[in-house]
Amino acid sequence: MAKTAELIIDGKSYKFPIVEGTEGEQGIDISNLLEETGAVTLDFGYKNTGATKSAITFLDGDKGILRYRGYSIEDLAAKSTFLEVSYLLIFGELPTADQLTKFSDDIKNHTMVHEDIKKILDGFPSSSHPMGVLASLFCAQTAFYPESLDPNRSSEGVYLSIVRSLAKMPTFASWAYKNEVGHPVNYPDNSLDYCSRFLKMMFALPAEKYEVDPVVAAALDKLLILHADHEQNCSTSTVRIVGSSKASIYSSISAGINALWGPLHGGANQEVILMLEQIKKDGGDTDKWIAKAKDKNDPFRLMGFGHRVYKNFDPRAKIIKKAADDVLEKLGVNDPTLEIAMKLEEIALKDPYFIERKLYPNVDFYSGIIYRALGIPVDMFTVMFAIGRLPGWIAQWKELRENKEPIGRPRQIYTGQNLRPYVALNKR
Ligand code: MLT
Repeated sequence: MAKTAELIIDGKSYKFPIVEGTEGEQGIDISNLLEETGAVTLDFGYKNTGATKSAITFLDGDKGILRYRGYSIEDLAAKSTFLEVSYLLIFGELPTADQLTKFSDDIKNHTMVHEDIKKILDGFPSSSHPMGVLASLFCAQTAFYPESLDPNRSSEGVYLSIVRSLAKMPTFASWAYKNEVGHPVNYPDNSLDYCSRFLKMMFALPAEKYEVDPVVAAALDKLLILHADHEQNCSTSTVRIVGSSKASIYSSISAGINALWGPLHGGANQEVILMLEQIKKDGGDTDKWIAKAKDKNDPFRLMGFGHRVYKNFDPRAKIIKKAADDVLEKLGVNDPTLEIAMKLEEIALKDPYFIERKLYPNVDFYSGIIYRALGIPVDMFTVMFAIGRLPGWIAQWKELRENKEPIGRPRQIYTGQNLRPYVALNKR
């Protein structure tokens, strides 16, 4: 028998169907709630609200499970590449060898950006945060490809926009960085793979030979896989809600970039490094800072510990911790800030205070450490997250469009003034 949930308001009973997901999760379908009862639900931050049905990513916060299209994140991180995972997220299946070659070639054909984009870039002062520049350049594609604004675009047209998005993202990202440091931009070297191409554009200087370190490129590829999707998080929900108005893929993703920028979301890994630097500047006494973190009256909080949806551990953090150890060892990095990170990690993993509160190091803690070891400047950490999250945003935008989902329009409980007569105060 189909399951239902019963709701009683003022003694009157209403029944709502229960929808079950393929992993047994249950959702009470309240699509007709307002119509039937006149009431709405109130759920600040939508923490208990399923905004959509999605076949892309499965996450179980209690068990620490993350899967893209049914494949475990552990398997994908160990055996796949970022481009393969992008294809999987966007098109639903792992690519065959031919499909992957075509996808990768299509992306390579679109890595260049229109020279006029440089004029837009030139308008930004070097004080601009690279996330703001990235969001702007990404959205500017609507001007260069106005056909992308057509809400009824053919699937070939949508494919072209997807390929352009993936192709140009590393170019925009590296240019946003070059703008910040005031250096000339580099153009994409299409003889290289996705991550190496980005690293070369990011770090190569004129008149200096730049060889991409394969250890660095491989570590980056893994990091991007781990960040590629995370079901209905803040930036992805933003992409979906903007896309639901039938806005173009470029403006929807640009909105996602802006949502990711905040310190509570993608900016968290940057906050981790800033915290470590603060501790180092203070003399590096980790015990003192752990005590501060435990003190309720002290505003200091450990950044990069615990997670909104993972209650026991973040599966991405487990994989990334191993990658962080490998990278630090292979690159022979000797950085006092990273030593502080390792000490904090060790203490927090053993201390009952942190264990009881489930404050284990999360993906942001380790990704900040790896990015620093790879030589990526702190301001660029969130940009790296955006490069990784791009295929997820694309997949979610595409799914929303294919499912013909309605425009997002939450309701509210009004708490303002009741009707009152207009009395002009400025004419008294
Ligand atoms: C993410 O990967 O988007 C973050 O862990 C945040 C989240 O899922 O809420």
